[in-house]
Amino acid sequence: MTRSKSSHPRPVVSVILPTYKEAANIPVLLAKLQSVLSAYSYEIIVVDDDSPDQTWAVAENFAPDDARIRVIRRLDKRGLSSAVMDGMAIAHGQCLAVMDSDLQHDESALPALIQAINTDGYQIAIGSRGVDGGSYGDFSKSRRFISWTAATMARLMLPITVKDPMSGFFAIARDTFRNSRDRINPLGFKILLEFIGRNPAARVVEIGYQFRLRLHGETKLSGSVIRNYLIALYDIRFGRFISSTFMLYAMVGASGVFINFAGFWLGNLLGLGAVQRSLPLIGHLELAAPFGIELSILSNYFLNNYITFYEFRHRGLWGNMRGLFEFQAISMLGFLIQWGVFQLLYSNGFLIDVLMEPWARYANYLIGIVIAMATNYYLNVNFTWNQNRS
Ligand code: GDD
Ligand code: MN
Repeated sequence: MTRSKSSHPRPVVSVILPTYKEAANIPVLLAKLQSVLSAYSYEIIVVDDDSPDQTWAVAENFAPDDARIRVIRRLDKRGLSSAVMDGMAIAHGQCLAVMDSDLQHDESALPALIQAINTDGYQIAIGSRGVDGGSYGDFSKSRRFISWTAATMARLMLPITVKDPMSGFFAIARDTFRNSRDRINPLGFKILLEFIGRNPAARVVEIGYQFRLRLHGETKLSGSVIRNYLIALYDIRFGRFISSTFMLYAMVGASGVFINFAGFWLGNLLGLGAVQRSLPLIGHLELAAPFGIELSILSNYFLNNYITFYEFRHRGLWGNMRGLFEFQAISMLGFLIQWGVFQLLYSNGFLIDVLMEPWARYANYLIGIVIAMATNYYLNVNFTWNQNRS
């Protein structure tokens, strides 16, 4: 990691430019920045994730002799927020500014952001589309709706009044970054929301600018970015109490109860409910029950795979067969654990002196459910969706 040397006075501003497939845009932006920043001591840090269009090489060749333009080419990581964090980590500036590299952010707003941080004593300054002087320009209706929903949800859930908490254009004071970097979850696109959420005492100002349309390349915003945003809102607000992964897992589990019932109903409808068998002890074979149970295991698996554990999801037919096999085995184990715990407690008369029947029985049953759920969760996190698997 680079350290600032004492012979090097700290630049007034470091501008971090995350790039992925912006080869056509980056030279244009660098030239614009050189002129906007000419009155400052500055550095520009391009953080590229090994773009196939060689954005990193284009940036390196833009002004090879200018030490103020630094390029990081990351081979091992992907993601907008984590690129911003890595850029900030090696930045020397007093003010750390971030902007998109696709020319959608108006570089002429940079001096106002820098002044807010370095002169006016704000800790976070936001290039904002939602305040006076700002606008979404010709941004599509659907994207505007996504932005509006995200901002409104953030204002409802967090004690913030910021109009554009999803802005990718902002500046933060060096110390504020340093003090909160360990608490930041660098997943997805909502790095600004993280900084605001984790620094509730920070003085924040919004500075209007007009959002521009992309000329070259395309957006990398996706469904998973939106999912990560919602998780981040939850984490910033409630993450201290219950982890968001467990919360999602529990919600999927609850949905499984409904699927289970629906499957039982469907199974009866299909005539699986009472197959006549002349086996000892079994007059009716209740196939609607295993049908409902299995349906809920399948839906739990797929919902967990695509929502709860999205980052570690199994892909393709074989990947999913393997994941499902593990999940199925763990679910069966859960069945045994729940039953075993209940049997053990109940037959030993646990709680029988404290609660009257049938409450003791139900309490024991509930303890079995909770223990089975906890062990299943533990096993699924560590085996089915083990993040360290190769
Ligand atoms: N290094 C790196 N790695 N950079 C990335 C990655 C990545 O995985 N994904 C995107 N970028 C860069 C892009 O090259 C671009 O410079 C910037 O991050 C923004 O990406 P876009 O794909 O253009 O995002 P957008 O325009 O759809 O989203 C904008 O608006 C959102 C809110 O509406 C951005 O400003 C977001 O930050 C903002 O949340
Ligand atoms: Mn963009």
